[in-house]
Amino acid sequence: MATYQDFIQQNEERDGVRFSWNLWPSSRLEATRLVVPVSCLFTPLKERSELPPVQYEPVLCSRANCRAVLNPIQVDFKAKIWACNFCFQRNPFPPTYHGISEVNQPAELMPQFSTIEYIVQRGPPSPLVFLYVVDTCLEEEDLQALRESLQMSLILLPPNALVGLITFGRMVQVHELSCEGIAKSYVFRGTKELNPKQIQEMLGLTKPATPGQQGRPPAPQEETSFSLPSTLRFLQPVHKVDTNLTDLLGELQRDPWPVAQGKRPLRSTGIALSIAVGLLEGTFPNTGARIMLFTGGPPSQGPGMVVGDELKTPIRSWHDIQKDNARHLKKATKYYEGLATRAAENGHSIDIYACALDQTGLLEMKCCSNLTGGHIVMGDSFNTSLFKQTFQRVFSKENGEFRMAFGGTLEVKEMGIGGTTQWKVCSLTPSTTLALYFEIMNQHNAPIPQGGRGAIQFVTQYQHASMQRRIRVTTVARSWADAQSQIQHIESSFDQEASAVLMARLGVFKAESEEGPDVLRWLDRQLIRLCQKFGQFNKDDPNSFRLSESLSLYPQFMFHLRRSPFLQVFNNSPDESSYYRHHFVRQDLTQSLIMIQPILYSYSFYGPPEPVLLDSSSILPDRILLMDTFFQLVIYHGETIAQWRKAGYQDMPEYENFKQLLQAPLDDALEILRLRFPMPRYIDTEHGGSQARFLLSKVNPSQTHNNLYAWGQESGAPILTDDVSLQVFMDHLKKLAVSSSA
Ligand SMILES: *[C@@H]1O[C@H](CO)[C@@H](O)[C@H](O)[C@H]1NC(C)=O
Ligand SMILES: *[C@@H]1O[C@H](CO)[C@@H](O)[C@H](O)[C@H]1NC(C)=O
Ligand SMILES: *[C@@H]1O[C@H](CO)[C@@H](O)[C@H](O)[C@H]1NC(C)=O
Ligand SMILES: [Zn+2]
Repeated sequence: MATYQDFIQQNEERDGVRFSWNLWPSSRLEATRLVVPVSCLFTPLKERSELPPVQYEPVLCSRANCRAVLNPIQVDFKAKIWACNFCFQRNPFPPTYHGISEVNQPAELMPQFSTIEYIVQRGPPSPLVFLYVVDTCLEEEDLQALRESLQMSLILLPPNALVGLITFGRMVQVHELSCEGIAKSYVFRGTKELNPKQIQEMLGLTKPATPGQQGRPPAPQEETSFSLPSTLRFLQPVHKVDTNLTDLLGELQRDPWPVAQGKRPLRSTGIALSIAVGLLEGTFPNTGARIMLFTGGPPSQGPGMVVGDELKTPIRSWHDIQKDNARHLKKATKYYEGLATRAAENGHSIDIYACALDQTGLLEMKCCSNLTGGHIVMGDSFNTSLFKQTFQRVFSKENGEFRMAFGGTLEVKEMGIGGTTQWKVCSLTPSTTLALYFEIMNQHNAPIPQGGRGAIQFVTQYQHASMQRRIRVTTVARSWADAQSQIQHIESSFDQEASAVLMARLGVFKAESEEGPDVLRWLDRQLIRLCQKFGQFNKDDPNSFRLSESLSLYPQFMFHLRRSPFLQVFNNSPDESSYYRHHFVRQDLTQSLIMIQPILYSYSFYGPPEPVLLDSSSILPDRILLMDTFFQLVIYHGETIAQWRKAGYQDMPEYENFKQLLQAPLDDALEILRLRFPMPRYIDTEHGGSQARFLLSKVNPSQTHNNLYAWGQESGAPILTDDVSLQVFMDHLKKLAVSSSA
C-alpha cells in the first residue's frame, strides 16, 4: 500500500483537499478525544491543467433537500439508476444518459474526475465590472505613481469588462464616462450618510439626475436634464473608454481643499465606498464585480471615520484598543461591516490597496475584503515595486485566462440527513484556500459502523473570468475507523502539516476576539492534550517521551506559530496585524506553512545551497542566508561575507566565484518574487545591520546569553531575546505531557 504521504499528496493534487485526519473517528466523543478536529483545507479553484471542463449540466440527486451532484459511485448500469452518496436516494439517470454502460461512462463517473468542472451558461453572459475608488489626498509622488498604475491596468483588463471611476477627498466624485467631450462628475458630501435608494436617485439610476462640474471645489448639485441608459453613465466597456479614461486618470488632481497646519486631509473613504457599493447594487446585482479602493491614509470624516483630522491625536494603537480607548473603532468597524455584507449579498468584492507610512484604518476596513473575498495589499507608498507589481499581478493570466473568479458560492454536502451548508465567497483566485471544520454527530453508543466510507461534496459555483458560469464539484471520501481498536491507524493517518494550519486558523480566529495570552494558553493546552493522547512515555519520565513520525514535526510548528505575527501583536500596529492575519487565513497549505515557520536557505563555498534549520546556529560568518517569511524576503550576509563584499572582491576578476556566490540568493529570491502574491518586502542586510532584526526575530534563539558560553564563538550568532528556545519549549512540553497530575 502507498504511504499516507503519497495518499495525502495525490489527494491534494487531484482535489485540492487536505484533511487533518484521513481516517475518521466514528462518534462525536471519539472525535473530541483526537484533539485536532476533523477538518480540512480546501482550495476550490486549484489550477489543474488536466481538467478540461465539460460542457453540460451536472446531474443532481432528485431529493429536494439534497441535490448532490452525481459523482464516482456505484451505479446500476442495467437499471440506469444511481444511489446518492449523501441521502441514499435512488435516482434514475436523465434520458441523455441512456447510452451509458460499464465501458461507456460519462466523465463524472470516472475516479480521476472526483473533481470535475461544468460550464453551465444560461442566458447571455453578464459582464465583469471593475470600479476604481481613488483617494486624491495623496502626495504628488504617490498620486503620480498611482495614475500610471491605473492607466496601465486599463490595458490589462478584459476589453469587454465595464470600468468606472470614483475619486474622493473631502468630497466624493462619481465620474461620468460617456458624456461627449466634457468630463462630468456627480459630487457628494463626504459627511452625510445616504441610504442605497438616495444614492441611486442622486446618480439618476432611478430617475434623471444632477451632474456637477469637475476641476474646482465642487458647487452644490445643479439641475440638469441628462438622460442616458442609466447604468452606462458610470460604467463603460474598457475598449470604448480606455483613451478617454486614460486622459481622465492622467489629469487627476490632488484634492483641491486646503489642509491647515496640524491637520490631516479630510478623507471621505466611508462615503466613497458606500456610493461604490450602492452604484453596483443598483446596476449589476449578482454579477461579478470588484470595487478597488486605493487609499493613502485613514478615513478622517463622516461615517466610517477612523481618526479625527487633528494630527496631534494619533490613530489608535494596540495599547489604546486594550485600554478601550479607541474612540471610533467599534462604530467604524460596524459601518464597514454593513457595506461588506451588502456587497457580499450581491456577489461583489472589495479590494483595498493601502499605501502609506502610517496606518490607514485596515483594522476597521478589513471586513470589506474579508467578507467579499477581496485582496488587501499594504505598502509604504504607491511608488514602490511592491505596490506596482502586486497590482499588476491581480490581472495576471495563466494559459490566457485571468486568475480570478467572481461571485462565487461554496456549498458543502455531507453524509447524514442530506446535510448541506452554503457560503458566499464572492471573489476567488486559484490559491484561495478555505478551512472547514466538521462535526461527527453520532453518539458514542451508536457509532457509525466501521468499514464504511464517509463522503463530502464541495460544490463551487462561480463566474469565470471568461464570463461563463461554471460549477466545480469535488467529491471526497474517507473511511470510518473505530478509535478504540484502530487508534494506531488513525494516528498514522494524521496530516501534521494540514493540522498545524487548521489549528493555527482557529487560533487566529480566536485572537480576533480574545486576549492574546488566552489564545496562547488555549493552543498550549491543545498541544499538551495531543501529546498525552499520542505520545509514548512512562508516567512522570519526560526523557521517555516519543512521538511517532506522523506527529513529530507538529510541536515545532506550534512553537513557531506562538511566536508569529498572527498571534503576537507586540511590535506590529493593528493595521499590520490585520494585514498578516488576512493573508494567513486565505493562502494554501504551502504558503501557510512558510508563514508559520519561515524557510531558511544557506549559501556557501562548500556546496550547493541547502535548507538549514530556522535556528540561530545557522547564522555563520561565511554564509549567506535567504529567509522567506512569505511577507518578507531577507538576504543576510554573514560577517566575513559582508567584509569581503565591502572590500569589493566581487568586482575583481580573480574572485569570480565570490561574485557568483553573492548572486545565487538574489536569483533564488527573484524566482520567489516572480510568483508570490502579494509581492514580499525585499530586505538586503548583513551581520550587524539594522535590518538584521528581521532575521533575528524569526530564528529559534537556541543560543541566548544563558547558554552562549556552551557554544564555540564561530558556531553561530547569539540572539538577544527573552524568548524561550525550541529546546526549552520542548522540555516543558514533555514534562507536562507525561505528568500524572496534568
Ligand atoms: C518614484 O520612485 C523612483 C525611484 O525611487 C523615483 O526615481 C521617481 O522619481 C519617483 N516618482 C515620482 C513621481 O516621484
Ligand atoms: C472621448 O473624448 C472625446 C473628446 O474629448 C469625445 O469626443 C468622445 O465622445 C469621448 N468618447 C466617449 C466614449 O466618451
Ligand atoms: C474573516 O472573516 C471570517 C468570517 O467572518 C472570520 O472567521 C475570520 O476570522 C476573519 N479573518 C480575519 C483575518 O479577519
Ligand atoms: Zn441525495
